Amino acid sequence: MARKLLLTHIDVPGIQTFEVYRQKGGYRAVEKALKTLTPDDVVEEVKKSGLRGRGGAGFPTGMKWSFLAKPEGVPRYLVCNADESEPGTFKDRFLMTHIPHALIEGMIVSSYALGANTSYIYVRGEMMPQIRILERAIAEAKNAGFLGKNILGSGYDLELYVQPGGGAYICGEETALLESLEGKRGNPRIKPPFPAVSGLYNCPTVVNNVESIAATVPIINDGGEEYAKIGIERSTGTKLISAGGNINKPGVYEIELGLPVEEFIYSDEYCGGIAGGKRLKAVVAGGSSVPILPANLILKTLKGDSRLMTYESLADGGFQSGTMLGSGGFIVFDEDQCIVRNTWNFTRFYHHESCGQCSPCREGTGWMEKVLHKIEHGHGAFSDIDLLVDVSKKIEGNTICPLGDAAAWPVASAIRHFRDEFEWHVTHGQEAQTRNYGLAHYADPLEPVA
Ligand SMILES: Cc1cc2nc3c(=O)[nH]c(=O)nc-3n(C[C@H](O)[C@H](O)[C@H](O)COP(=O)(O)O)c2cc1C
Repeated sequence: MARKLLLTHIDVPGIQTFEVYRQKGGYRAVEKALKTLTPDDVVEEVKKSGLRGRGGAGFPTGMKWSFLAKPEGVPRYLVCNADESEPGTFKDRFLMTHIPHALIEGMIVSSYALGANTSYIYVRGEMMPQIRILERAIAEAKNAGFLGKNILGSGYDLELYVQPGGGAYICGEETALLESLEGKRGNPRIKPPFPAVSGLYNCPTVVNNVESIAATVPIINDGGEEYAKIGIERSTGTKLISAGGNINKPGVYEIELGLPVEEFIYSDEYCGGIAGGKRLKAVVAGGSSVPILPANLILKTLKGDSRLMTYESLADGGFQSGTMLGSGGFIVFDEDQCIVRNTWNFTRFYHHESCGQCSPCREGTGWMEKVLHKIEHGHGAFSDIDLLVDVSKKIEGNTICPLGDAAAWPVASAIRHFRDEFEWHVTHGQEAQTRNYGLAHYADPLEPVA
């Protein structure tokens, strides 16, 4: 069995409550940090751990923390990004629902490290049950003296607030989130300045994902070096993966980074294989924004190495034959799924969610949606496929925030790897909507296509 750091006590009845969480060793990291470590020591442990941001970009957390400006007399903020709206990603919601104190404890440790006395958890607006769960957990922690004034007699004060999000995917982008938290429309800001210098209310701010913040608890309990022993290369520690699509066991799994993708898909400990005994066709490994890979390329790199669940291995081959670990939203497609339909579906989402500030994203996502709709519904021309590639290239890299890239990559990668399926739709018209193409994109279980 793989080691677990975040979900160790997931099966313990009542672990949602302060009492049971505490009985299981909860809040030891707060005690250790506040009683025996300076804020800089905590930052140092997080640096040593090699923890990389679990929100999608994989930026080293300790390094991000060390960029935080510390001007005299100006407050600093820690903001937890719990907006989690990326299609296919539901790991943060799982953690907040079942072990809310893991996040609260991480918020206290991290806020202490950053010298923040007021911190926020910005939760996706639709997640009302989780908002209530977190509010209850905060009240419990406060009653027990772990929040508020002079925590554990250390002289450190922290107020922690839960803020319901604005109900838009873009509010997960860190600067749009800060705008929304300030009560404005969630439009991304132009960077620089980065939040570390000018964030919430123009004050130095760190924005971190739920899982990144929760991971600071085992890092402080066991030490950064211990954490760094798990994983491979620059992918250290464990990672929550939300697995969905055509698999036997959809759910949230905590893996040790470095696990072979093949094992993740087929082993009973994780996804348990493809549902209905069908063949694997494709995987979107890190939430809807990352490039889709066909079965052969998700199981092995072009060099023939086993593809591993790490930042580096998934990216091997660049955008030609690789993808990204992203937010850990792992979506599996069986042989009967239509890549054109899925690409259209994702693109509808990005068009709907574009904030509209940048023309390439506002216009381009709508254009791609219309062309994909046309192809999917059997009215497309071959030139439409090239048009899609062209529009996606014009969006990529030309927007204030990465939502544009997130919209462009699924389209570009679907055409790169499944062009024959798009062409099939063009040549077969509406008949192509019967999903079984007879095209060779499948992999038999445990026998990857070369
Ligand atoms: C459109 C868009 C949506 C995003 N949504 C989320 C989100 O829901 N949760 C999240 O943690 N990061 C999200 N991000 C990434 C954040 O901007 C930011 O990189 C992240 O919160 C940093 O935390 P980390 O360093 O701990 O990963 C999103 C980015 C973009 C461009």
